Amino acid sequence: MKKTTHFGFKEVPIKEKTYRVRKVFNSVATRYDLMNDLMSAGLHRIWKRVAIETIAIRPGMQILDLASGTGDLARGMSRRAGSEGHVVITDINERMLHVGRNKCIDNGKLKGLSWCQCDAETLPYPNEAFDRVTIGFGLRNVTDKDAALREMHRILKPTGKALVLEFSKPVSSSLSQIYDIYSFSVLPAMGHFVAQDKESYQYLAESIRKHPDQDTLAEMMREADFGSVTYTNLTGGIVAIHTGVKA
Ligand SMILES: C[S@@+](CC[C@H](N)C(=O)[O-])C[C@H]1O[C@@H](n2cnc3c(N)ncnc32)[C@H](O)[C@@H]1O
Repeated sequence: MKKTTHFGFKEVPIKEKTYRVRKVFNSVATRYDLMNDLMSAGLHRIWKRVAIETIAIRPGMQILDLASGTGDLARGMSRRAGSEGHVVITDINERMLHVGRNKCIDNGKLKGLSWCQCDAETLPYPNEAFDRVTIGFGLRNVTDKDAALREMHRILKPTGKALVLEFSKPVSSSLSQIYDIYSFSVLPAMGHFVAQDKESYQYLAESIRKHPDQDTLAEMMREADFGSVTYTNLTGGIVAIHTGVKA
């Protein structure tokens, strides 16, 4: 049995990856939202908006958002689910949840939301509890992605829908080249000057390259028993939205 996994381009003992990922997000938590806007030139807001459109939320739905970080996706979905609906915001990292919760308190937006610190690989929820489950820019940080996908399937009600929003593989080689230069030169430099943390943004660029491409992730979702698995590329495949339905 394999005893190591990747952390960016490094090979590390499986048990160490979660600890290292935690360290990254502990370090970036307070600058996370600012860095997202700077690094993507605001595009992450559009990607999240498209994801929320895609997952077809109706008023009253029970929704679980995994690896929520500071909670952008969850807040957007909560607006759609309305006062009868509920969104649970979860993350393995307490500091990221804390920053997001403070944001909700500052904006007076706590209704229809609750928080839970948990690992996407082992969810503390019963079978068939949710209408929708989402994970935005989180799956590539999870050590056992297959376990997380199986958990997403388990907690969904029959006909419930799962969505994975994640960095993926650019579809054209010229875009790929530009994107590589940007990721390995500009991003770490930006991380250094804005967040005083070059290493975490180097990890970001590397973790994206190690993440399964569009077709591989679609196959992993099928293996986790999702049906009707499809994906849509955004910004030339820099990001992809995968969806699957529980039969
Ligand atoms: C890049 S952030 C994404 C945050 C947010 N979903 C967004 O789109 O802005 C990745 C998040 O995944 C969380 N994470 C990493 N491993 C996790 C795991 N095994 N279970 C749950 N959350 C995890 C990190 O703590 C971090 O907050």
